[in-house]
Amino acid sequence: MNKLPHVAIVGATGAVGREMLVCLSERNFPLSKLTLLASARSAGKKLTFRDEELTIEELTADSFNGIDIALFSAGGGISEKFGPLAAEAGCIVIDNSSAFRMDPGVPLVVPEINPEAAANHPRNIIANPNCSTIITLMGLAPLHKAFGLTGIIASTYQAVSGSGAQGIAELESQIKALASGAPIEKKVYPHQIAHNVIPHVDAFQETGYTKEEQKMLHEGRKILNLPDLKVTCTCVRVPVMRSHSISLTAIFEKDPSVAEARATFSDRAGVKLVDDPASDLYPVPLDTTGQDDCLVGRIRKDQVLPNALALWVVGDQVKKGAALNAVQIAELL
Ligand code: A2P
Repeated sequence: MNKLPHVAIVGATGAVGREMLVCLSERNFPLSKLTLLASARSAGKKLTFRDEELTIEELTADSFNGIDIALFSAGGGISEKFGPLAAEAGCIVIDNSSAFRMDPGVPLVVPEINPEAAANHPRNIIANPNCSTIITLMGLAPLHKAFGLTGIIASTYQAVSGSGAQGIAELESQIKALASGAPIEKKVYPHQIAHNVIPHVDAFQETGYTKEEQKMLHEGRKILNLPDLKVTCTCVRVPVMRSHSISLTAIFEKDPSVAEARATFSDRAGVKLVDDPASDLYPVPLDTTGQDDCLVGRIRKDQVLPNALALWVVGDQVKKGAALNAVQIAELL
């Protein structure tokens, strides 16, 4: 791309869409024009970008004429319908939904891990991975490089932001209702999420796992180019606003010591070690909220499996789990 690109955000009013505006601005992303697209409900409303008020337009089939890069975050149905239209119009689509992630003609990219994959995008679509998968792999990639990852046993503690703006609104309203004694309303989750945890993220499959849990397996294999990687995952929704935490047992070809494992994080972009339990220092979700970097800590030898480490990874779901990763992919272009 020789000239500065004309960029669009599809789903600009959503939790991730709004964060994309923040990331483009914070990173001083070079662009000639930014177009904001959302549903007819939002058309005509305004959002601020770099001190300028931009008017939101309704997404239509004609929205992509002249647009070079479109960051999609309006749900899988919108991506399936409008992504290919945008790609045919010559626009490169960076899609935050799961619609195209496992398509062999669509690269699935975490820029710190497999940036080279972004160069080959025959369908003009590049997929942004699942948020828990991105954050997990940010913690595991340095260890994989040093010791050769063969398996993952994961339990996630996923923030309500993963359900979009409605998930955040539901937790906020339930917290207020609990404080005031008002009745609890549930729309997004099958159970009250305030003061609770729900071991159910996305739809259950015949295997007993949920779709979200299977994403860690299939997307992890594709991003790391490890077709035989073994993954068992339990995904849990917790009453946290916007950072995901993941408890991991990671199994390797080599047998790493804790000191060797810690050393792999010494000069990695996008991930930092916070691991001094004696001083109560370990990653917590509030510490990564609004931050670009993922944090890793609690690294210790697994007491059950050989060649295995237990660890804890935390990252901002809206940022590195979604908006930031998408903007970093756009930077690769
Ligand atoms: P709108 O605010 O106009 O409904 P979230 O994941 O945080 O819920 O955000 C979803 C995003 O997807 C919002 O920006 C929302 O816009 C957008 N969206 C939902 N339905 C459509 C649609 N039919 N056409 C375009 N954008 C849509």
